[in-house]
Amino acid sequence: MNHRPRRNRKSKAIRNMVQETTLCTADFIYPLFVVDGSKIKQEIPSMPNVFRWSVDLLLNEIEECIQLGINSFVLFPAVDDKLKDQMASYSYHSDNFYLAAISKIKTTFPEICLMSDVAMDPYSSDGHDGLVDNGEIINDKTLPILSKMSIAQAQAGIDIIGPSDMMDGRIGFIREELDKKGYHNTSIMSYTAKYASAFYGPFRDALDSAPKNGDKKTYQMNPSNKKEALIEAELDSLEGADFLMIKPALCYLDVIQLLKNNFELPISAYNVSGEYSMIHAAAKNGWLDYNASFQEALLSIKRAGADVILSYFAKDFAKLNS
Ligand code: PBG
Repeated sequence: MNHRPRRNRKSKAIRNMVQETTLCTADFIYPLFVVDGSKIKQEIPSMPNVFRWSVDLLLNEIEECIQLGINSFVLFPAVDDKLKDQMASYSYHSDNFYLAAISKIKTTFPEICLMSDVAMDPYSSDGHDGLVDNGEIINDKTLPILSKMSIAQAQAGIDIIGPSDMMDGRIGFIREELDKKGYHNTSIMSYTAKYASAFYGPFRDALDSAPKNGDKKTYQMNPSNKKEALIEAELDSLEGADFLMIKPALCYLDVIQLLKNNFELPISAYNVSGEYSMIHAAAKNGWLDYNASFQEALLSIKRAGADVILSYFAKDFAKLNS
């Protein structure tokens, strides 16, 4: 035998030397949930160890993450039902606690990278990402709402806007409106290939944001489609996105690889709530080793081609690797 591939696996030192993919804490964006009020830390039942925080306690949490080497965060608001309406008008209201939280976090920790969520669902009485009229999601009337939300977040000091709504043309529309207001330096990470997935369930519990009627299949992508991801990526690139995201990550590793091979922009992948909760549930039953399985899942996302990973596992990863 001339070839014995096992020789390159014979010791830890050699295995480490020939390792092709390496994860590091800087690869991650850590998602955080914020609520109005003070002294609040509520665990989300379907997401062990993930909390809804009021901003006072969230600052301590961010400080702890920074100590562990995490410097990038994405923030989602859990909004009281009373503040929700058909137009999601609270999303850009001047007394919005989410916008206040963005300012507070960025003034306390100016060096971190903070990303937002842009979509109507956390603020919409219909629980949809776009404007609902007679049961239909109205694309073009949603765009000005998304851009008002984006401008308000830019004004609050956000580093990266994260449109997660999947309306057509929204990246170009938002980019133009941000630039008109002088926010040329506010980046856009587009949820480019966001699939209509069953794995968002725990997140919708966290925000109480599930659609009141119907599903999201007229705007989020069909899980069977791959070429369509190329169309979305082409449009987002032309419209001025700074990053292209694939979401979820684990069931869509082929799509991550496809976009990585076809586009020059940084590729990000969202390791979503259901992907987090299922590993936790199996580990709790003693069916999987938690530390080994979540790190293997994250490694597969990077190996597929993700430059950036949004993951609820980021803090546990940092604890094990710093
Ligand atoms: C909605 C949004 C969703 C997530 C991020 N932004 C859910 C949805 O589309 O219903 C899901 C994230 C996760 O599951 O972790 N704008």
